[in-house]
Amino acid sequence: MKAIGTLLPLIGLALAQTGLAPKKYLSLPLGTVKPSGWLMDQLKVQTNGLAGHEHEFYDYVSQTDWVGGNSFYSNLEEAGSYWFNAMVPNGILVNSSAINAKTSAFLSYVLSHQDSTGWLGPEVNTTKPRYLWGRYPFMFGAIQMVEHDPSLTDQVVTALHKFVALANTMLHSGKGVESWTATRWEDFVIVLQWLYDNHPNGKEDLLIDTMKQLKYTGVPWEKVFSAQYFPTTAVEHTPNPFNLPLTWHGVNMAEGLKALPSTYRFTHNQSGIARSWQISFSALTTGELLDLNAASAGWDLLFQYHGRPSGIFAADEYLAGLEAVRGTELCLVVETMFSGSYLYQVIGDPKFADRVERITYNALPATLTGDMWSRQYLQQQNQIAAKNMNPNPFPNDGSYSNVFGLEPNYPCCTVNHPQGWPKFISNAFLTTPDQTSLVNIYLGPFQTSTTLSSSNPVSVTVDTQYPFSDTLTTTITAAKAFTYYVRIPSWVVGGTISINGATAKAVNPSNGLQAVSVGAGTTKFVLNLPAPITTESRPHGSIAVHRGPLHYAFDIARNQTVLTKNSQQPLAVDLEFDATVNWQYAIDPATLKFNGGSPPSTLPSPIFDSGKPPMSITATACPISWAKAGDTFAASPPTSPACTGSQTTIKLIPYGATKLRIGEFPVFKSN
Ligand SMILES: *[C@@H]1O[C@H](CO)[C@@H](O)[C@H](O)[C@H]1NC(C)=O
Ligand SMILES: *[C@@H]1O[C@H](CO)[C@@H](O)[C@H](O)[C@H]1NC(C)=O
Ligand SMILES: *[C@@H]1O[C@H](CO)[C@@H](O)[C@H](O)[C@H]1NC(C)=O
Ligand SMILES: *[C@@H]1O[C@H](CO)[C@@H](O)[C@H](O)[C@H]1NC(C)=O
Repeated sequence: MKAIGTLLPLIGLALAQTGLAPKKYLSLPLGTVKPSGWLMDQLKVQTNGLAGHEHEFYDYVSQTDWVGGNSFYSNLEEAGSYWFNAMVPNGILVNSSAINAKTSAFLSYVLSHQDSTGWLGPEVNTTKPRYLWGRYPFMFGAIQMVEHDPSLTDQVVTALHKFVALANTMLHSGKGVESWTATRWEDFVIVLQWLYDNHPNGKEDLLIDTMKQLKYTGVPWEKVFSAQYFPTTAVEHTPNPFNLPLTWHGVNMAEGLKALPSTYRFTHNQSGIARSWQISFSALTTGELLDLNAASAGWDLLFQYHGRPSGIFAADEYLAGLEAVRGTELCLVVETMFSGSYLYQVIGDPKFADRVERITYNALPATLTGDMWSRQYLQQQNQIAAKNMNPNPFPNDGSYSNVFGLEPNYPCCTVNHPQGWPKFISNAFLTTPDQTSLVNIYLGPFQTSTTLSSSNPVSVTVDTQYPFSDTLTTTITAAKAFTYYVRIPSWVVGGTISINGATAKAVNPSNGLQAVSVGAGTTKFVLNLPAPITTESRPHGSIAVHRGPLHYAFDIARNQTVLTKNSQQPLAVDLEFDATVNWQYAIDPATLKFNGGSPPSTLPSPIFDSGKPPMSITATACPISWAKAGDTFAASPPTSPACTGSQTTIKLIPYGATKLRIGEFPVFKSN
């Protein structure tokens, strides 16, 4: 510090930037990007399943007002707020008049019950303590509604500004923050930034001051996600250095991934002149990284030490390390997807988009039944049974956590999981900040229409069965020429593009994006994005198998027992799954072979269940001894096991379609 004291005034000058730093890419209003093909079918499966029906029968959300009086966090009101955040985009994207009527009624109820102080939520006319967090998912939902229907702007924006004024006063007087709010402050910062960017109404200073108050009353995410403090193993025996155990809670971390990029927008802690000064400043003094670098490095630490081949990380309540038997909570799956989309929009590094796509096409569907009526609380990479576990492999969660059901272990994921698919869809296309270009970030069947700057109406259709196919046909119509971008995932090898029927050429992406010059009129291009089979090293010398966006696992044949049935909705069942075949195999990585070059013209519905995806990978395998704990979970994969029988061929299928599985295999040499 002392040595460079003379530089401080200069740095102060460089830092004296005002306003919010720009994002690299802008999202489009809800409803602009629509799913088609198998992806629309998947969203309809969700709508016909638990997500689209829970408000009719599930007491946690079936009340008509801002629900949550029976919340398991007795001081938070999460149920209605989570449900609303998810079902606003779900209802709009499938055009469900029933769901849209319900979300509209919810919005009206909440806004019309705002009290004179500005407070929103059920703590009106009661002595319940007022904590801020429960409102954040509600505000995300309200923003999506306004973007879809601008006629709602005045009433929502007015209510939000009234609430912000109250929240600012509360924060300045040390009120409104308990331990959950302290970790989830970034969600409110993002709401404030939406107001600042779109409807500041002369309140810029108050908005920025509230962002700062949230950060300074909240947990120090820059430290939690720093190499210095980051836990490199499961944390149940590690004292939390911040004395705030909730900083290592999986859902909080998934949400907290947004903290540093959202902070950067108001600290400018990496931009313009400040950047070069700060880099030398940091390097010279503390060695601390700047907010954006810290966000990116923190993301990498999370997956390095707790990552899963399915794309997600493990936290069975708290960070759970690399062992294949440990759990990943469904809520953190959908929150990480949402955070990854935001990180991409602020930072522009394609690694965020690659991982969100992997999580969406693997970890998300794996943890619900194919019909999306039953969901787990925790999924496992190696999951040989889904049942009430004895012994229980999860140190901080109940033995019922991996049952597929209505509300195993906790109810939160029943109301929160439906945001996964709709928000992935909404964030699949972005524009550049000057809005001259459209950027297709997530690959899949989509259509979108928007008007780019200088009055350029464009529409785009992506016709594909990706990720169940390597080929995507994109048709664009535009009034004027512009540059279109499409993401080329990092796993693609030998990808080609053919524009308007010309000979296919090798793709040549820059920072993960392929530029395509689009003229006025119609442009059509075909991408072929093949990928080799790859293997990933996992603990105990085991491996995981990937090809392109999909992770492949051995689908353990199962039978099922209905454990309970909801009294009002017989489709809402709790299911136990037990293995009916042996799953104890080692595989020879040299023998992996991909089958399924040309998928059928239509895919089965639902697609994410045993035997449904049109492709597989075969492997030469041999039976081995592999211990179980009780009859419920597999021990760690044995290292260098001996074969106990003759070689055979086993079939691996996309992980998202497996409900019981081996995803991390011991290896052997077949010859
Ligand atoms: C949405 O559904 C309504 C009827 O509920 C219908 O009038 C409208 O055309 C539909 N919109 C789209 C885009 O399909
Ligand atoms: C709070 O209670 C008062 C008195 O009963 C009532 O007039 C008012 O409408 C209530 N406010 C809300 C927001 O429910
Ligand atoms: C810049 O960001 C780093 C990492 O998040 C943080 O430690 C540092 O305090 C920030 N500096 C300022 C001036 O906000
Ligand atoms: C499921 O299969 C296992 C193994 O074959 C068997 O022990 C069990 O009784 C079966 N359960 C049901 C409900 O069929």
